[in-house]
Amino acid sequence: SPIRAELGDCVRCGLHEGRKKLVFGVGSESADLVIIGEAPGHKEDLTGEPFVGKSGQLLTRMIGAIGLRRDEVYICNVVKCRPPNNRDPSPEEVHTCSPFLIRQVQTINPRVVMTVGKFASQCLLGLDESMGRMRGKTHQWENLPVVPSYHPAYLLRNPVAKRDAWEDLLRIRALLRR
Ligand code: URA
Repeated sequence: SPIRAELGDCVRCGLHEGRKKLVFGVGSESADLVIIGEAPGHKEDLTGEPFVGKSGQLLTRMIGAIGLRRDEVYICNVVKCRPPNNRDPSPEEVHTCSPFLIRQVQTINPRVVMTVGKFASQCLLGLDESMGRMRGKTHQWENLPVVPSYHPAYLLRNPVAKRDAWEDLLRIRALLRR
């Protein structure tokens, strides 16, 4: 990927100091569905692949629940390197890194975008609202439908929210069927 090549051995922000691997994104570059998370966690930093930890296993099941395989969607994060202590990325880190996410989404040009968690949803959509307010509808970003939903890590801590997450997945499936 030319975008990956341009990132190179990125030192554009401070997150490069603590990282093991830059986590660019995985999956099909002709995917109908792009899924966007926040930032790599511990296991992602070690492997270079997004969503491979506990929440990744749940995300893989969520993808399967709408009849897709993990390798036919595209999965990435707003920020490509792990923030120390799993803190939220800073506004400066987002400002530095998100242009690469934007180009990834524009290049793949999927049918649907799913943002998981408040952080990624607010970032892509430029909103300052709760997850509960953002989810439950289809937003638009550069003419692409965007469906915000709960982060799988949140669903693991709060299984009651899985009912709403299932509704969000059905919305995505319906958009993909059009
Ligand atoms: N959480 C995220 O938001 N992204 C990952 O890649 C892993 C966990």
